[in-house]
Amino acid sequence: MSEPGLRLLRERVRAFPDFPEPGVLFRDISPLLKDPVAFKTLIDLLEDHVKASFPKIDFIVGLDSRGFLIGPPLAQRLGIGFVPVRKKGKLPGATQSISYSLEYGKAELEIQSDAVEPGQKVVIVDDLLATGGTMCAACELLKRLKAEILECLVVIELKSLKGSEKLSSIPLHSLLQYD
Ligand code: PRP
Ligand code: ADE
Ligand code: MG
Repeated sequence: MSEPGLRLLRERVRAFPDFPEPGVLFRDISPLLKDPVAFKTLIDLLEDHVKASFPKIDFIVGLDSRGFLIGPPLAQRLGIGFVPVRKKGKLPGATQSISYSLEYGKAELEIQSDAVEPGQKVVIVDDLLATGGTMCAACELLKRLKAEILECLVVIELKSLKGSEKLSSIPLHSLLQYD
């Protein structure tokens, strides 16, 4: 793992107190996405990690919407496909859906029922793990399709919210950790 690379990423994450509601310290990755060197470094680090960890992956699964900024470039680097998990009401055809709570509110996620075949190996990608509600809901959808979840992969982990405990036996990897 490249320490200068991680330092650059950390420098490109901003914190906004009380957004989107009082008491939440919002970690904003917009400056990271805006800087092409930092954005490339992010995808390089994720690619290195995934290639070193898993000999075979069928799909990168990304979570609506910030996971869509990171999952597709990573999938392209790995030469594999991308599967979207979307917020409710956006996917046509047969879907599986699940309600969940996150650090600030409630929502519903969906996946197309034919998105993944039983036994296919997936890595689930999002920008950030807070309470773990979103990632846990995505894992439940993938389990219903009988996918093999190799790992949950995030750029930022907010340690104090203990989201990794909610994922129980599914491994989590994060590049940047905050208290
Ligand atoms: C944010 C973030 C993660 C989730 C983490 O998404 O992108 O997906 O919250 O929170 P949790 O661990 O407490 O569930 P959000 O639903 O705000 O929407 P966005 O990705 O569309 O911006
Ligand atoms: N999603 C959930 N909690 C968040 C936070 N503190 N910053 C950015 N995105 C989030
Ligand atoms: Mg999100």
